[in-house]
Amino acid sequence: MKSSKAKSGKKQPAGEVTLKIDGKEIKAKEGQNLVQVARANDIFIPSLCYYEHIDPPLGTCRVCICEIDGKPSPACMQKVKANMEVRVNTPQMEDTRKAIVEMMFAEGNHFCPACEKSGNCSLQHMGYEMGVSISRFPHLFKDRLIDFHPKRMIIEHNRCVKCHRCVEEVLTKEGKKVFSICNRGNETVVGIDYEQEAKLTQEEALAAMQLCPTGAILVRGQSMAKPFGDRRFDNQSVQKEEQDKKAVVEAAVKAAKEKKVIATISLAGCFGCHMSMLDIDLGFIDLLEVVEFNKSPINDIKKFTKQCDIGLIEGGCCNSENVETLREFRRKCDILVAVGECAIWGGLPAMRNMIPLEECLEEAYLNSITTVAGEHIVPYHEDLPKILDKVYPCNEIVKIDHFIPGCPPNPEHIWKAVKNLLWGDHYSILYSEFKYD
Ligand code: SF4
Ligand code: SF4
Ligand code: FES
Repeated sequence: MKSSKAKSGKKQPAGEVTLKIDGKEIKAKEGQNLVQVARANDIFIPSLCYYEHIDPPLGTCRVCICEIDGKPSPACMQKVKANMEVRVNTPQMEDTRKAIVEMMFAEGNHFCPACEKSGNCSLQHMGYEMGVSISRFPHLFKDRLIDFHPKRMIIEHNRCVKCHRCVEEVLTKEGKKVFSICNRGNETVVGIDYEQEAKLTQEEALAAMQLCPTGAILVRGQSMAKPFGDRRFDNQSVQKEEQDKKAVVEAAVKAAKEKKVIATISLAGCFGCHMSMLDIDLGFIDLLEVVEFNKSPINDIKKFTKQCDIGLIEGGCCNSENVETLREFRRKCDILVAVGECAIWGGLPAMRNMIPLEECLEEAYLNSITTVAGEHIVPYHEDLPKILDKVYPCNEIVKIDHFIPGCPPNPEHIWKAVKNLLWGDHYSILYSEFKYD
């Protein structure tokens, strides 16, 4: 076989190969998985058992069948190689894949409207994608067991498509398998080891439920957890999900080329919000790939050297210097964000707002137990910032564009919000990000 280099006459980077999928010439790394290469190039190959973390792929369902170098083969089992010729969307291949999905519906008992996984089920979704409305094969109507014995799970054998995902991936902490294949032929079922299943945590059981592409593995108390309209496939198809993932990667690559500039400051705050910003630990290294810090206590740059994309303000304003600094941030930052309770409404320092300023100063400097005997002086010098009559939230001094509540706000939450403001990255707020007990 001629190498692609010889064929095109152009120098090809080492390890890169050229192949054709549905007539489109594609470059990829030799040995990459064909399903992934196709999807990265906007050609969707349907799949069911394929799960990118299981290597080698399971190859059990055959839903991904394509014509590869003239022969029908499961695409998920193929690694790309030079001059490979793949045909995905031919009438024959489309019908073969549809027939396979129809067979699955005929082999099991799938009553989607009453199924807990409906809307989140890959089999159901494949049916929609391929336009399956009726099976050309006779239904077997097998009477299979629904197993309520496991501690956390319910196993609905009527819905299992024997993809083997659970067999390969659901393990106890000691590495023991929880599921295994039992019986043969049409009587094949996925067996569960009750003893091992009882060792799984609730989170591990939930992960198993998500891993199962159908509604065969359920977790007690989790059925119908999402209302209609919020379920995974209610609003978008796998094809759209792939495109969205690609768009996120492209946005990150673009962002990496044009670093955004961040400034931060602590006014009347305790530096807790800054500590929280640093609490993303190693994530901070990734962050530095896409942003640079200008004026900030994080890098100890004391003066602005350029206009910034975003300014993060910790603390409210308790003195004239805070007010000046905040106004400077407003001028130098395109987007200004109040981070934490002190910046948003004054926080703990604002407790003094209930007491006249004079009394506060007397308490602090004249009557305090730490006052040096004989030194009855309230400090005053023209170089010292003037204390304000009360502690002001930032939005009473300048326009604040966004607020991130919390004391301090959760680190993940801060950076998710910043990434959203800078690059429009979608994000959702997790329960763990706003619970503080
Ligand atoms: S497992 Fe999927 S296809 Fe089967 S009944 Fe449930 S939703 Fe329908
Ligand atoms: S229980 Fe689910 S994950 Fe396991 S083999 Fe059946 S369909 Fe696949
Ligand atoms: S996705 Fe390829 S065989 Fe199942």
